[in-house]
Amino acid sequence: MTPDESTHGMWSNRWLFVLAAAGSAVGLGNIWKFPYIAGENGGGVFVVAYLFCVALVGIPVMVAEVLIGRQGRQSPINSMRLLVQRSEGSQAWTLIGWAGVVAGFLILSFYSVIAGWGLYYIGELASGGFVGVDGNTATQALAELHSNPILMSVFHTVFMGITIFIVARGVVSGLERAIRWLMPLLFVLLIVLLGYGIASGGFAEGFDFMFALRWDALSFDGLLVALGHAAFTLSIGMGAIMAYGAYVPRSVSITRTVITIAMLDTVVALIAGLAIFSIVFANGLEPGSGPGLMFVTVPRAFGQMSLGALFGGIFFILVSFAAITSAISLTEPAIAFLVEEYNASRSRVAVSLGVACWLLGLASVFSFNVWSDVYVVGEKTVFDSIDYLTANIMLPLGAFFIALFAGYVLPRGTVMSQLGITSESAMAIWTVGLKVIAPLGVLAVFLYTIWPSG
Ligand code: PHE
Repeated sequence: MTPDESTHGMWSNRWLFVLAAAGSAVGLGNIWKFPYIAGENGGGVFVVAYLFCVALVGIPVMVAEVLIGRQGRQSPINSMRLLVQRSEGSQAWTLIGWAGVVAGFLILSFYSVIAGWGLYYIGELASGGFVGVDGNTATQALAELHSNPILMSVFHTVFMGITIFIVARGVVSGLERAIRWLMPLLFVLLIVLLGYGIASGGFAEGFDFMFALRWDALSFDGLLVALGHAAFTLSIGMGAIMAYGAYVPRSVSITRTVITIAMLDTVVALIAGLAIFSIVFANGLEPGSGPGLMFVTVPRAFGQMSLGALFGGIFFILVSFAAITSAISLTEPAIAFLVEEYNASRSRVAVSLGVACWLLGLASVFSFNVWSDVYVVGEKTVFDSIDYLTANIMLPLGAFFIALFAGYVLPRGTVMSQLGITSESAMAIWTVGLKVIAPLGVLAVFLYTIWPSG
């Protein structure tokens, strides 16, 4: 093996990295979260704000993560260790790697629970369980799932099991093999769903809702929600992309590839939003109905349409695929680190991590029923607390410090050779983006989300 390779394996080519990173980025954030927060924050203006955040904060930080990963060629913790040593920076920077491992573990514990609902809904829709139901019945169906810890645990177990099975098999025969067929299928399902949305008759209204600029709907809050979501949806700030970056061949252009990944993620969010809003409007339902949009409004809308059971089933298969390819990336920083540190076999590490994460996930399962009145942070259940802590605090902080590390600590020469930068003007764009724009943007979100009234 030549020195410029990772011991964990390497992506076979540029496109596999694009698919893997897009697989990480495209997840519940795009299909479940984006449509409802766009709905709650005024549609078009929110979409524009989010696009700006992806371009100004998301892309620079993602470039930095891939660069650090490829330069270090190890797990985020050890890559950071190495780069800190070489640049004679403070060891404290390696905390970025540690915090990322913890964040990934925490996110996966509740992500698996929500993805489990998605798996459960495949059967519920495909079997015609939502045909012709009214709003109350649809709300009731989700409430029944929430009140049944056994059923939720079963689907949480299935989702975690699939994730660990794939992860255990390694970068090439596990991750790549799954991604090779899951991602193309995901794109096909998405297009099928868009076609169905267009045929539903609500497309014009859906399009108008997503893209018409109602400036009065623009609020400072909405702007900051958009920035926070940009970090979550691009999987930045916790090392997932850094871990994947370690497996990127030297010949790949980082900047060009990251732009492709960010565009794919954005396009999927926009198409999912268009499809969902078309179907919602075609049935005269409310777009701004909050987190229940995907599990209440969408199943109900499908239930009122011809072939709704079939396409509703397809929709939740799409959701599950997207969630699986994100979940495997959540484990990679920890798995790679444990393998390096203890020289342990990847499958043993994966199973141990999976069991631990599954156990923590049970606390999220119970947050909806037996522990619904157990609060951790303020008035928040275990589930809400973990979601809040990771998405609103750990990821923004992670992105902030990654930008600072790449902007101020990494030697100029490393950056220029990794990014293939030869001109001063290109270097100036990188410098301003990483030293000023990205950190300030993230800082704004961070301050907002920890502000007591936020
Ligand atoms: N980007 C994923 C989504 O949109 C979530 C995620 C966050 C995955 C951080 C990996 C790391 O659902």
